[in-house]
Amino acid sequence: MCGIVGFTGARAAAPVLLGGLERLEYRGYDSAGIAVLHGGAIRVEKVSGRIAKLREKTGDGALTPGSAGIGHTRWATHGAPTDLNAHPHLSNDGRFAVVHNGIIENYLELRRELIKDGYVFQSETDTETIVHLLEKYYDGDIKTAVMKTAARLEGSYALGIVCTDTPDALYVVREASPLILGVGVGENYFASDVTALVSHTKNVIYLEDGEFAKLTPDSIMVCDCAGRELKKPISRVTWSVEAAEKGGYEHFMLKEIMEQPAAVKAALAPRIHEGRVQLDGFELSADELRGVGKIIITACGSAYYAGCSGRYAIERLCRVPVQVELASELRYSDPMVDEHTLVLVISQSGETADTIAALKECKARGAKVIGIVNVVGSTIAKLADHVLYTFAGPEIAVATTKGYTTQLTVLYLFALYLAEKLGRIDADSYAALVKELQHLPRKIQQTIDMNWQLPKLASRYSSRSLFFIGRNTDYAVALEGALKMKEISYLHAESYAAGELKHGTIALIEENQPVIAVCCNEALMDKTLSNIVEVKARGAKVKIVSQADDVIFIPRAETVFSAALAVVPLQLLAYYAAKEKGCDIDKPKNLAKSVTVE
Ligand code: G6P
Repeated sequence: MCGIVGFTGARAAAPVLLGGLERLEYRGYDSAGIAVLHGGAIRVEKVSGRIAKLREKTGDGALTPGSAGIGHTRWATHGAPTDLNAHPHLSNDGRFAVVHNGIIENYLELRRELIKDGYVFQSETDTETIVHLLEKYYDGDIKTAVMKTAARLEGSYALGIVCTDTPDALYVVREASPLILGVGVGENYFASDVTALVSHTKNVIYLEDGEFAKLTPDSIMVCDCAGRELKKPISRVTWSVEAAEKGGYEHFMLKEIMEQPAAVKAALAPRIHEGRVQLDGFELSADELRGVGKIIITACGSAYYAGCSGRYAIERLCRVPVQVELASELRYSDPMVDEHTLVLVISQSGETADTIAALKECKARGAKVIGIVNVVGSTIAKLADHVLYTFAGPEIAVATTKGYTTQLTVLYLFALYLAEKLGRIDADSYAALVKELQHLPRKIQQTIDMNWQLPKLASRYSSRSLFFIGRNTDYAVALEGALKMKEISYLHAESYAAGELKHGTIALIEENQPVIAVCCNEALMDKTLSNIVEVKARGAKVKIVSQADDVIFIPRAETVFSAALAVVPLQLLAYYAAKEKGCDIDKPKNLAKSVTVE
């Protein structure tokens, strides 16, 4: 979703801002803009559409001189993705420009008040109220104006602000929306995401809710919402610049699919020592663990489907009931959660608004929350009682792949850890499963290597609607497979529990209907095969993802972990189907990488 960047230093700001915005493109956006301070004024350039258009308009930044500025990619919420609604927004007196991530919930009330005060609005956005409030509260002291403005805002925001009275300064403030300061030498930065910073600096400061900062080329001052100056630690980002680049692949998505063996290894390696699973930072005592009456897994999108797979692993190995809930539903469901509930919150970005809200709801009811998160320092990582990082590295393609398989990996580790702690697994099975987990990276690589036929298979689907079926763990994989296909190829894809087909959906099966059957659960193979026969009898063409019309093979694996293998060909199938259709694979229409609004 929206992205923000800011730069102040001795060199030209616009090229740095444009480069930063390009690094944030993957989050999803539909318009973009920059504002640069120069000669006592603020020059704003914005466009609907892609950053390439903004580059063209600004001559790659050369037509927008100045060495301090702010930039934004907007994913439209309030008002269409037009030039006028794009950020930055200017105050009526031209003194302030603002970029904003988040949503101001009381903007209508503020807008009415400001119009009454005589302020003229140019856009339909909630953000524009902020810049007029700044003008209203400004009496020569910017910090006070920002604090007074922030105090009026309800909702979520990460704000980047420039003011003509301080031509080399940037101001930022955050509430429930990520904001990171980049510490350079003779220049400083801010961004909503570290990927926009890593090519300039790896030294960062993570701002907390309610914190305000002023950045000049040589200084960074942070204070709390009461205006007290804070000493903030500088953290080192471990992601490399190359990790956030395509590295010779045509798309980030393909690169990230290929990175899965390494990513899964990175999630496993630090947590298996001498045949035992040890979870970093996980401090629940054996007694506390025994007190866990049930587990709730909550997440959105693919992370939710990772939870659906994880449920089978946890229930099978630990014999503890697991409920998997969509975060957007859980938050409003008056959930049956108490201090005996262990909640696993899964999120690649750690910033998904619904997931954060579900986490808060569960914590408020006394549950212990474990976050399974990729992005270090993200909101969910901070709010959870314990964090298990997935160590997938930066994931740029909007459709998650290595994010999902590393979430599965951490769930498998967790299942083994808990099973042992609860004494629900015998030593031999435990040892065998730990070994099997260690083979996962190699088997994912084999899965990729042995399925060179997928581009050809995918080309047969690129104009069809598809059904994905499976049972148990295979059903969880089918759900993710169908989502991948929809997200990037825009093909209609539905997933069904194989046994449920005959209760209605089978009516849709006709001659040549492609059906993808996930069939990796050996114990249920015969059952799913019966369902395959049922659809074939009605003319369907069936592709099978199986250990065993077309068969996509995966290496033999323990059923409890097979989802991490079975999903790989489905990711590739979706990728090649989208490629065949000429879709914008890394930035699918209408989707955002990190959904920071409800
Ligand atoms: C968006 C992305 C999905 C992702 C979901 C949850 O919809 O497009 O790929 O699965 O958000 O994101 P999270 O960062 O919480 O895992």
